[in-house]
Amino acid sequence: MPDLTDTTLPLLSGARIPQVGLGVWQTPSGATTRQAVAAALDVGYRHIDTARIYGNEVDVGVAIRESAVAREAVFVTTKLWNADQGYDRALNAFDEGLQRLGLDYVDLYLIHWPVAGKRLDSWRALERLHAEGRARSIGVSNFLVPHLEELLAGARQVPAVNQIELTPFLQRRETRALCARHGIVVEAYSPLTHGRRLDHPVVKDVARRVGRSVAQVLLRWGLQQGLVVLPKSTKPARIAENGALYDFTLDERAMKELDALEEGLVTGWDPAEQA
Ligand SMILES: NC(=O)c1ccc[n+]([C@@H]2O[C@H](COP(=O)([O-])OP(=O)(O)OC[C@H]3O[C@@H](n4cnc5c(N)ncnc54)[C@H](OP(=O)(O)O)[C@@H]3O)[C@@H](O)[C@H]2O)c1
Repeated sequence: MPDLTDTTLPLLSGARIPQVGLGVWQTPSGATTRQAVAAALDVGYRHIDTARIYGNEVDVGVAIRESAVAREAVFVTTKLWNADQGYDRALNAFDEGLQRLGLDYVDLYLIHWPVAGKRLDSWRALERLHAEGRARSIGVSNFLVPHLEELLAGARQVPAVNQIELTPFLQRRETRALCARHGIVVEAYSPLTHGRRLDHPVVKDVARRVGRSVAQVLLRWGLQQGLVVLPKSTKPARIAENGALYDFTLDERAMKELDALEEGLVTGWDPAEQA
């Protein structure tokens, strides 16, 4: 069984982030989320990505508390929802999130979406939460170049992370280059294309050559690009498969073939439409 705890990236905050995390968007609250998180922790995941809007923070917290893995060994992310943006509201929303999770700190707190007119005030609240030590690292999600440039001009602290949709079919090269220049780690959400390209012939051919699944190839591409990857599944067998990424590599030819698949495929919300 691979030890995923060795495969971390350094963050600007000084913390380290496990490069593979279980996503729980659209994982139903209750037993389904608890079982998914338990299955992930069992096979070595040490990173769970939830959000206020996913409605399952309570179950993520329960599963972590009930597992044999120590709280400090698990990297827990949650996110500030749009309706809670603004300085005071963000501080309150963070407290409520901690309560739902049943934790006294989170490893990473993200602004979920760059809400116009609110995002800078929200960021100041996150800077305070970081200074208080209750959010060990802070970052953003769905920030593209214009949103990041605005934030970097007004922020005291550079975000540790930017979580964006990212696959070989949507590579966001300009955003990643800007993040790299500032030391911001990029997290790839919907790294399995939300299921949309799992039958793509090029990825299937690479998968056949390395003797792995299409999902594993897409995730391994992300790891070799220096990204954090956040696959979601409710099924223990797939959760295990999606975490088994450290006993094979993609060679230069495979990486080039995958790099050539850019097509601007946005499966979720497109932050390019957000002023
Ligand atoms: N910050 C944001 O705005 C944002 C937006 C979207 C997503 N995210 C994060 O990214 C995570 C993942 O994104 P996502 O849920 O959109 O999509 P995803 O991980 O790209 O794809 C999930 C889909 O693939 C299926 N699947 C999982 N593993 C598989 C495998 N090994 N083989 C075949 N199918 C497989 C899942 O079905 P089963 O569950 O039935 O296995 C599900 O239908 C989310 O949970 C969330 O944490 C963040």
